Amino acid sequence: MAAISSCNTNNPLPSTQRLLGKVALVTGGANGIGESIVRSFHKHGAKVCLVDISDEAGQRVCHSLGEDANICYLHCDVTKEDDVKRAVDFTVGKFGTLDIIVNNAGVADSVLDILNVDCSDLEKVLNVNVKGVFFGMKHAARIMIPLKKGSIISLCSAAVVVAGASSHAYTASKHAVLGLTKTVAAELGQHGIRVNCVSPYAVPTNLTLCKFLAEKERTNDAIANFQAFLRREANLQGVELTAEDVANAVVFLASDEARYISAENLVIDGGFGSVKHSLRTFK
Ligand SMILES: NC(=O)c1ccc[n+]([C@@H]2O[C@H](COP(=O)([O-])OP(=O)(O)OC[C@H]3O[C@@H](n4cnc5c(N)ncnc54)[C@H](O)[C@@H]3O)[C@@H](O)[C@H]2O)c1
Repeated sequence: MAAISSCNTNNPLPSTQRLLGKVALVTGGANGIGESIVRSFHKHGAKVCLVDISDEAGQRVCHSLGEDANICYLHCDVTKEDDVKRAVDFTVGKFGTLDIIVNNAGVADSVLDILNVDCSDLEKVLNVNVKGVFFGMKHAARIMIPLKKGSIISLCSAAVVVAGASSHAYTASKHAVLGLTKTVAAELGQHGIRVNCVSPYAVPTNLTLCKFLAEKERTNDAIANFQAFLRREANLQGVELTAEDVANAVVFLASDEARYISAENLVIDGGFGSVKHSLRTFK
């Protein structure tokens, strides 16, 4: 009887080329976590189309990566279905297929008092964070279903693990992302398409500042205090969460190493959502 081996000793890809030959579309790829995802995907050998509404920043990312044949930028507002459809078709036209979509574009608000949430503020958050992800999933699926493969990854948040860390609008939007991830994974599994999300703790980006500090409160001291607060509140000490840490998790989910992982929410929070240090059990 042939021996059954559980490990693949014949992996031809070096560890730096885990996405070699794959084609990816990354929304909100001009800044913050999205930019890190674009850079990591490019480093790992993927062909990447990054889309954003921040055109200058998007062009800058492309330029800094040498504007080679494996990277391009397109303007796309994820709240508009036609823009997302066009971005997907553009990626397929340029690179021949679509293996991966990362629904990363997101916004946050800092209105913590439910009585003062304007409908327009709520709609702004839901439009980008929910409709944007929905359109990304829909139009990626349109390409991936006939191919019988693909990986759809969305940015969720630790706000789905622990309440009290974000505004109502933002928290609601990320719960919707988690729900969409599971239900779309349920539908697309039959086509060999994996659908996952990642839920990071706080990474210092523009969005984090918008989330926790109203614009008029953003002095240097307030920002430094806020960052010290995040460090104190974290479970894991001696290491700070970076955009690269989130990008590494996304590379893993996009790669064939995660080929049997679907409907999963990969929490990147160093244990923040699972522990309550105020009980002072472990001094
Ligand atoms: N930073 C964090 O602490 C954190 C934690 C958990 C989850 N997230 C999620 O990660 C994702 C990225 O956040 P970030 O912190 O890098 O934010 P960021 O503000 O640094 O970057 C967000 C990007 O999305 C783009 N964008 C905004 N609206 C858009 C639209 N309508 N169409 C296209 N692009 C648009 C922005 O121009 C920007 O380039 C978001 O979905 C966010 O909710 C962030």
